[in-house]
Amino acid sequence: MSLPPSSAHAAAPQPLTAGRSGPLAGRLKPPGDKSLSHRAFIFGLLTVGATEVEGLLEGDDVLRTGEACRALGATLTRHGPGRWTVQGVGIGSLLTPVAPLDFGNAGTGARLMMGVVGGHAVTATFDGDASLRKRPMRRILDPLEQMGAEVLDQASGGRCPLVLKGTGEPLPISYETPVASAQIKSAVLLAGLNSIGRTVVIEREASRDHTETMLRHFGATVQVEPWGQHGRRIVLEGRPELRPRPVAVPADPSSAAFPMVAALLVPGSEVLLERVMMNPLRTGLLTTLLEMGADIAVEGRRVEGGEEVADLRVRASRLRGVDVPAARAPSMIDEYPVLAVAAAFAEGETRMRGLQELRVKESDRLAAVGAGLGANNIDHAIDGDDLIVRGGPVKGGGTVVTHLDHRIAMSFLVLGLAAQNPVTVDDEAMIATSFPTFKPSMTALGARFV
Ligand code: S3P
Repeated sequence: MSLPPSSAHAAAPQPLTAGRSGPLAGRLKPPGDKSLSHRAFIFGLLTVGATEVEGLLEGDDVLRTGEACRALGATLTRHGPGRWTVQGVGIGSLLTPVAPLDFGNAGTGARLMMGVVGGHAVTATFDGDASLRKRPMRRILDPLEQMGAEVLDQASGGRCPLVLKGTGEPLPISYETPVASAQIKSAVLLAGLNSIGRTVVIEREASRDHTETMLRHFGATVQVEPWGQHGRRIVLEGRPELRPRPVAVPADPSSAAFPMVAALLVPGSEVLLERVMMNPLRTGLLTTLLEMGADIAVEGRRVEGGEEVADLRVRASRLRGVDVPAARAPSMIDEYPVLAVAAAFAEGETRMRGLQELRVKESDRLAAVGAGLGANNIDHAIDGDDLIVRGGPVKGGGTVVTHLDHRIAMSFLVLGLAAQNPVTVDDEAMIATSFPTFKPSMTALGARFV
């Protein structure tokens, strides 16, 4: 199809440099969880009545999902930082958007919303920035087509911009996801909400289960049972009547990862990270850092808003290299770039196995991490789908290309806080998609940006 201009941020790139810092100290509540924030808006749209949300991540990705919810009929009201009300229209009653839905950098927003549109009698155009336009959408469109949705137009290989015509009577399918992906699982379940019958999703490796948890929270009937060694089988009863329920969004473990690794690497640091979500399908990085010898105390475990949370006390530590099994990847899929940074300072070799999914994130993260390590003279290798990092004294001094990827930007800024020489990232703009307060929050802990 002929492409309209993408929404890639038009402004000139904004480089940012991080320099060697004194001990980081203090407490920080990282921003609200991105996965839950997208879902809070989407479930609000699909529920008749007022859904109250607190702790929402007000990053660009989530706000784009909010705009899409508005275009599909919801009324969104902001009451204060992180506090929103969503007045939804309910399953089966979406409006047809009059303009393309622009998801910016947000793969999660776009893919989950494809599920919503795919299961409704509406047609919508999905688009985003240059990064989103490169990301594979066939993995979402395939099951939606099986359910009866039609792709009327698409860029090559099933990419954005694309036009999706949903069906008001989605077939209840049984679908085994080809890769461990919460986005594929969620798209099928969200489409299945409007099915008469049971939608079944099978995943061989369990991925984050926020959609299942939120479905139950809003009153849907969902059964989850183990499947094989590491997998799950999820069964959703279609056409539930969702009821408005308050949503309290805990801090995002994927954002907490940056101050966590920074505090481990900068000598003399002690930082308390508050109210961090401890869902076991999200804590792979914590497990790995503890194996590496990190001094992280998990304090005050409690349940808030249906998810377990805790405060994490992180002290500077001498780390040693470990072998990270491929089976752990789904529980830390977004944390490999910052783990690679931690590994650069560890004693010995760290091998991270089975990272093929990293190639289709906001950037080809495997290549981007390799290039960033290379730019800072860190001994590393990419062996098939594995990343190997050999730690040692880190000189730094490099400039890292971020490829519109927030996590590449934040990871290498963390590197700069502990390296001998400052590290520059070519563009900090995309950090606003997930951690808009990154720079002031880190500065308040003592991080030095120059
Ligand atoms: C997400 C799922 C993951 C993750 C992304 C958020 C979600 O993607 O990388 O940042 O909220 O469902 P995949 O489903 O592609 O693994």
